[in-house]
Amino acid sequence: MPESLRPRSAPPAAEPSAAPPAARLPEPSPRDRARPGALRVEGLALDAQGRRLVDIDHLALPAGGVTMVMGQNGAGKSLFLRLIHGLIAPSHGWISWGEVPCGPATRATQALVFQKPVLLRRSVAANVDFVLKARGLSRAARRERCAEMLARVGLEAHARQPARLLSGGEQQRLALARALAIRPQVLLLDEATASLDPASVLAIERIVTEAAEAGTKVIFITHDIGQARRLADDVAFLHRGRIAEHRPAAQFFLGPQSESALAYLEGRILL
Ligand SMILES: Nc1ncnc2c1ncn2[C@@H]1O[C@H](COP(=O)(O)OP(=O)(O)OP(=O)(O)O)[C@@H](O)[C@H]1O
Ligand SMILES: [Mg+2]
Repeated sequence: MPESLRPRSAPPAAEPSAAPPAARLPEPSPRDRARPGALRVEGLALDAQGRRLVDIDHLALPAGGVTMVMGQNGAGKSLFLRLIHGLIAPSHGWISWGEVPCGPATRATQALVFQKPVLLRRSVAANVDFVLKARGLSRAARRERCAEMLARVGLEAHARQPARLLSGGEQQRLALARALAIRPQVLLLDEATASLDPASVLAIERIVTEAAEAGTKVIFITHDIGQARRLADDVAFLHRGRIAEHRPAAQFFLGPQSESALAYLEGRILL
């Protein structure tokens, strides 16, 4: 675990934020807080080149369901996702999942899918097999899981084909099959459908929804407001590295309370 990710002391108690209470989701119950999908962030900051890029006093995400992360370009969404997955170390603060400090142990139970899939120069099936082998599954178990996952994303007919010959949408479905093959407790998606056609977007949304319904916590960054409306249980809106608001989706889309979210939904750029 990177030194700066190592907890130096017990996590600070959740403090009321300066934001008005209506702009926040209710705190999770103690039982929910212990579930592996329950993210808790306290006093999180990421500094680089003299700038504070992420600055989150307090955030608690529900242990289940789909949290959509929104905000304009440069708001800090991707950095936030990398921080909570333990890929980069914060300058300050505390991150935990189900009360386990963020680090290699929590990362091993999670999967991250990027906008551009990073695939191995091997067959479609070998891309899924690779992650299963790394987790020590037997050959028989791998074969079965691989077939199950490729069927789930509609790629079974392409199993022997080189992955790089797949179309963009097919490659993204393969990336999702590979992510879900490890049966992650948390699925993180960074604009995973940004360059896909409408049918591919809906295919991926269906797979993500099924995963969420089966108990996987989903945290999904998107600029697609229609997609956020379709998928979100709650929305965390980031502005200049801070959480401007975090509310149930129905309330958020009815009328955001922060000026930055309102401007975003209205297509105005807030400088
Ligand atoms: N390593 C770095 N050093 C300095 N600044 C960085 C670094 N990485 C990102 N930034 C800056 O941090 C800010 C947030 O970046 P981030 O990629 O998280 O934005 P984002 O919300 O994901 O935007 P987008 O919607 O365009 O993907 C940006 O202003 C970016 O230039
Ligand atoms: Mg980004």
